[in-house]
Amino acid sequence: MMIKNDLLLKVLRRENAKRVPVWMMRQAGRYLPDYMKLKAKYDFFTRVQTPELAAMITLQPVEQVGVDAAIIFSDILVIPQAMGLTVLMEEGKGPLLPEIIKSRKDIEALRTGEVESLQYVMDALTLTRKELNGKVPLIGFAGAPWTILCYMVEGKGSKTWDKAKQFAFTEPVLAHQLLQKITDITILYLLAQVKAGADVVQVFDSWAGALSPADFKEFSQPYLLQITESLRDEAPVILFPKGTWYALHDLAQSGASAIGIDWCISPGEARKRAGDGTVLQGNFDPAKLLAPVAEIRKAVKEMLNAFGTHNYIANLGHGITPNVPVEHAKAFVEAVKEYGINKKVLQQ
Ligand code: CP3
Repeated sequence: MMIKNDLLLKVLRRENAKRVPVWMMRQAGRYLPDYMKLKAKYDFFTRVQTPELAAMITLQPVEQVGVDAAIIFSDILVIPQAMGLTVLMEEGKGPLLPEIIKSRKDIEALRTGEVESLQYVMDALTLTRKELNGKVPLIGFAGAPWTILCYMVEGKGSKTWDKAKQFAFTEPVLAHQLLQKITDITILYLLAQVKAGADVVQVFDSWAGALSPADFKEFSQPYLLQITESLRDEAPVILFPKGTWYALHDLAQSGASAIGIDWCISPGEARKRAGDGTVLQGNFDPAKLLAPVAEIRKAVKEMLNAFGTHNYIANLGHGITPNVPVEHAKAFVEAVKEYGINKKVLQQ
């Protein structure tokens, strides 16, 4: 199927796109009134597991906010479910995993051989791609092994992830065994997503920043590289290891098509570390979407001035938060679109 708006795919191939593509992490759900209506009617995993609902939610930001890509409505925690764990989503509290991973026996019991139980995600991708009808590319995703380990060991969200880190530091052999098992099933899962219709895949390592540079190199980076290596011939891979500015040089050599960055590094510093040939994605502070619209527009312009219009995907530095007014999300997207065309295209 021809993708009509192929700005994102062009940039991921390092080609000259007409202008900078823009999308927002966590754009599906959370802040849109039409999502809130579905949320009032169906519980979280019903929304995730019903392809018609997931497709509807995925399309909302494309139609209502004008982003240049769709990201499938799902969650990173469907992987622990596929491995045999219970995951509950508690309203207002976030995820809860009642059976946490503590021992070798717990790890050995985890399933990694197939992702048939996640067929509903593949069905949602196929349906969404059909409904998009080539309007914009569709992004599939998974959590990074380290971030999934965090939830499996802690059983819920944490500010410090100290129990997950305690596990990694006291039982490193078990931690690596668990990380490898998560990696194996994540590769199967992402390959299945591409086969079902994902044009691009993104790996969210939301809690990589809880680790020191040396510990990121031990407990996260090797698994991100394995996933990238297994996927890159099938689809472009975007890696988003939040909080790892120090690893940008290494990650630029990973074979990933783009690296996501949060707002804790300046565009100039990120370019310097990653090199001009690396495609960067980010790094607008999501909290800045709460500023007045004129401020948002000004900050977007400054961000684009600093990154330039080539090898860059405009995005937030982490997910959009539920309290962002829709008008502000639109202002962010429109400011990128109005910035103007890629100077490299003018030179052609
Ligand atoms: O990008 C998108 O809009 C696609 C959908 C998506 C969701 N979760 C839907 C969701 C994506 C890409 C995710 C990824 C995800 N899930 C991450 C990585 C990205 C990040 O923001 O760091 C993480 C860490 C999770 C785990 C998770 N799921 C948490 C901590 C929570 C609770 C609080 C919250 O909103 O983040 C969820 C629930 C969840 N997943 C919601 C949505 C829209 C909110 C609950 C609801 O709407 O009922």
